[in-house]
Amino acid sequence: MNDYIKEREESAKKLAAEQVLPNVQWFPGHMTKARRIITENLKLVDVVIELLDARIPYSSANPMLQEIIADKPKLVALNKADLADPAMTKKWINYFKTQGIKAVAVDATQGKGIKQLVQITEDLARARTEKLVAKGAKARAARVMILGIPNVGKSSLINRLAGSNKTKTADKPGVTRAKQWIRLGTHLELLDTPGILWPKFEDMNAGLKLAFTGAINDEAIDRELITEVFLDTMLKHYPDRIKERYKITDALPDTPLELLELIGKKRGCLVKGGQIDLEKAQRIVLTDFRSGKMGTISLDVAPDISQEKD
Ligand code: G4P
Repeated sequence: MNDYIKEREESAKKLAAEQVLPNVQWFPGHMTKARRIITENLKLVDVVIELLDARIPYSSANPMLQEIIADKPKLVALNKADLADPAMTKKWINYFKTQGIKAVAVDATQGKGIKQLVQITEDLARARTEKLVAKGAKARAARVMILGIPNVGKSSLINRLAGSNKTKTADKPGVTRAKQWIRLGTHLELLDTPGILWPKFEDMNAGLKLAFTGAINDEAIDRELITEVFLDTMLKHYPDRIKERYKITDALPDTPLELLELIGKKRGCLVKGGQIDLEKAQRIVLTDFRSGKMGTISLDVAPDISQEKD
């Protein structure tokens, strides 16, 4: 490996180890508060929808969610599926199935997968509410909450689900006055405030992927480093996408820095004296990836389930 890259990767490790990379908005105090709010809201709902980024289902998952929600029924929504490799999303859905978890691919901005999401949520909720009724409880609509890390698309999904039911239901007796519920389907109500989870901090690779996708505010990251590690990943896993996007017909350079320079040149990112404006090139690369201009790309590979029983 090129010394420069090695040095940069070491530096990334150090950043992650020191929790500098994604640690701007989340401190232990924030996590404790988020956990408390989620635990309080959890008491009000029958089903949880865990929203993950379909491009990085592993990296966008909260490491403590399962412990927090315990045995509350859960459904996974793989959002931004329009930006992820559909074959890999399918593998993830199958993987979740082997774990006994129903998962569905969703595009909250276009409304794809929403019907299926509501259907599965209703099924999960019905199983629970019917059990409660059998135990003598009064029949009521099942309540659902959406949980996910920042930027994963919680508000977009809530807006999409709310659709024409934007007029919220009145406060329920026994429910804090401020809580608002949105009616979904015939037997469901969605809490209109999502639960905000903190992302994985300790895992360097997860932190980097969160930065690539924009889940971590760009002001909080070293864009130069992130772009180079991203391009290194692309060189290894998706070289053709890079060639296509930037109309590169010759062999790709070996190092991400040379590639960035080439992209800058191709895109006319020049500063006075004919030097390449690397900062501009970095912004172009990250924006192209985040907006799907490089095509559908998945960065977390689903665990191999071929050895596992269904
Ligand atoms: P959050 O509540 O979880 O923090 O996320 P939010 O809904 O605000 O979504 C974060 C960004 O992700 C938004 O883009 C939103 O449009 C985009 N987004 C959400 N769901 C999807 C999806 O399924 N596919 C795609 N391609 N994008 C999605 P933004 O640039 O921050 O804002 P804007 O473009 O909506 O103005």
